[in-house]
Amino acid sequence: MNVPVVHPLWLRTTHWLNAVAVTLMVMSGWRIYDASPFFDISFSAGITLGGWLGGALQWHFAAMWLLAANGVFYLLMNVLTGRLRSKFFPLSPAAILADLRAALAGRLSHADLSRYNAVQRLAYLFAILDVALLIASGLVLWKSVQFPLLRELLGGYETARRVHFFAMAAMVAFVAVHLVMVALVPRTLVAMIRGR
Ligand code: HEM
Repeated sequence: MNVPVVHPLWLRTTHWLNAVAVTLMVMSGWRIYDASPFFDISFSAGITLGGWLGGALQWHFAAMWLLAANGVFYLLMNVLTGRLRSKFFPLSPAAILADLRAALAGRLSHADLSRYNAVQRLAYLFAILDVALLIASGLVLWKSVQFPLLRELLGGYETARRVHFFAMAAMVAFVAVHLVMVALVPRTLVAMIRGR
């Protein structure tokens, strides 16, 4: 029997490249933050990447090209193939509440892996927008003088640093919830690896 494709190859490739890029960015970012923390917290060296500020910056600047190029390709493909509209919309607060209630009561069906429920749609759109915010605020920190408008839109250099930090924290929270969801419905992982 011909099993239908749930995730096309380009989607699976960009998803896994993104997972690698996000991991490298977050771990090296924690090391960069540790060199000049602005909260009372710092990240233990064992969970950071790069060894020291210079090494962490090298990792961060290398992985950012992968994150950005891969993200632009993912978005372009989603828009051009009409996938963005068909997979993530329509989306309404009523549908999100209904699916959230059903999920908490253990009544949310995962029979059709090719259709995302409203909570998945919201979570994935959130992740996409959060990566965009990470890249925009990262651009300001990297080339502050070259992007004055973006810098002012984000409240100036120091505020952009906080925005970048909180966007990172939101991304880490998304990934934590994402991994719990994948563990609860492991069939989705098979589909994200094999396509069907
Ligand atoms: C090792 C870590 C990861 C695993 C095991 C994983 C696994 C998965 C799986 C199984 C799906 C399909 C879920 C479904 O059918 O509902 C998925 C989709 C998705 N994941 Fe992940 N993921 C990981 C990391 C990440 C990271 C770091 C991001 C950060 C942005 C991310 C963003 C997404 C998005 C946006 C989708 C929906 C993609 C689309 O359909 O366009 N994932 N992931």
